[in-house]
Amino acid sequence: MRHAFPVCALAFATGLAGTCVAADAEVSFKQDLQPLLNAQCVFCHVDGAENGELNLGRRKAYAALVDASSIDAPLPRVAPGDVDKSYLVHKLRGTHLSVGGSGNSMPMVDPPRLMDPAQIDLFVRWIEQGAQNN
Ligand code: HEC
Repeated sequence: MRHAFPVCALAFATGLAGTCVAADAEVSFKQDLQPLLNAQCVFCHVDGAENGELNLGRRKAYAALVDASSIDAPLPRVAPGDVDKSYLVHKLRGTHLSVGGSGNSMPMVDPPRLMDPAQIDLFVRWIEQGAQNN
C-alpha cells in the first residue's frame, strides 16, 4: 500500500476525494466500483450494447467480470487475488496488448485517456483483496 498516500493526495488535489478510500480499508464493489462503472463505462457496456460482450450494468457486472474469460486475451477479466492475470486491469492501464489482448484501453475515449490513477488503484486493491461481491 505504499502508493496509497500520494494517490489519495492526488485525489484530493483534483477534487476526486470521493474516490480515495483509506489505504487499509476494504474496497466495496457495490459502493466504490459500480459508481465508477456507471459513470464511465456502462453506456457502452449495457443491455443491447454489450461491447466486447461485456455488460457492466449493476445487476450483471460482477458475474461478467470475476472469473469470466476475456473474449480477446487468454486471461480472465478478473482473477481474484491476481492483478497481473486480470485483463480488466490491463485494459485500464493500457497494457492489454502486452498480454495478448487487442483493441483500445478503457474507457474508450478519443483521444485515448486512462482513468484517474486513484480510481484504477481502487480496482487493483479490490482484486488484491479477493474481488469480493461486497
Ligand atoms: C465508447 C464506448 C466504450 C466505453 C466508454 C468503454 N468501453 Fe470497454 N469496450 C468497448 C469496445 C468497443 C470493446 C471491444 C473492443 C476493444 O477491446 O477495444 C470494449 C472492450 C472492453 C473490455 C474487454 C472485454 C474482453 O472480454 O476482452 C473490457 C474489460 C472493457 N471494455 C472494460 C471497460 C471499462 C471498465 C470501461 C470504463 C472504465 C469501459 N470499458 C468503457 C467500448 C467501450
